[in-house]
Amino acid sequence: MVDRKAARIAIIGNGPYVVTGNVPLAKESAVRDKKGIPVEWEILERYPGQEDYDLCRCGASKNKPYCDGSHHGIEFDGAETASRAPFSEVAERYEGVDFDLLDYKELCAGAQFCHRAGGIWEMVETSKDPKARQMAAEIAGQCPTGRLVVCDKRSGKPIEPSFEKSITVLEDPWRECSGPLWVKGGIPIESADGSEYEVRNRATLCRCGESKNKPFCDGTHVLIRFKDY
Ligand code: FES
Repeated sequence: MVDRKAARIAIIGNGPYVVTGNVPLAKESAVRDKKGIPVEWEILERYPGQEDYDLCRCGASKNKPYCDGSHHGIEFDGAETASRAPFSEVAERYEGVDFDLLDYKELCAGAQFCHRAGGIWEMVETSKDPKARQMAAEIAGQCPTGRLVVCDKRSGKPIEPSFEKSITVLEDPWRECSGPLWVKGGIPIESADGSEYEVRNRATLCRCGESKNKPFCDGTHVLIRFKDY
């Protein structure tokens, strides 16, 4: 039985994401510079508010981003294969002078914000410069997946953007494909087996149905040119 009150995403086995708690839903896309590097996010459209709704996870719905039951017809295999270990245990640490960068590559959705300003990894090496630290924190915060996290060297605390609990449906017109669901603000995600994934400020959930790291996006949507239109 799904709890219909709290902001929450419950994964149904071989089925959709059941979103509860009146979570705002919008469509969002990256704004790119002349070289094609993403520099900021832009909301394209807001969906009508709903107390709860089901989002397609298999990629086959005719009513995307919502589920229309098509997962039954295609015998969707939604088996969850992602690690359950906390991010801090699986992420690689790049040590800088006044900040560290944590990086867990398995979560990459190919959003490409990490290429800004010459690349976030190079900024770790120049982190004596306060501007580098500021830019690295901004870029890491733009990564929708939570793959990249900048941590203050002294306190060890992550430097995270502030998000309201919300979900955005990502589109990538530059590469002519649709992307994952960006889950913002620490919405709990419950596995089909009833356990809970680590609650994070940023996460991206696969909606093309082809990720090898379900329920999270692994960038496969770019390779298969997934389109929800
Ligand atoms: S949406 Fe990115 S791998 Fe499916």
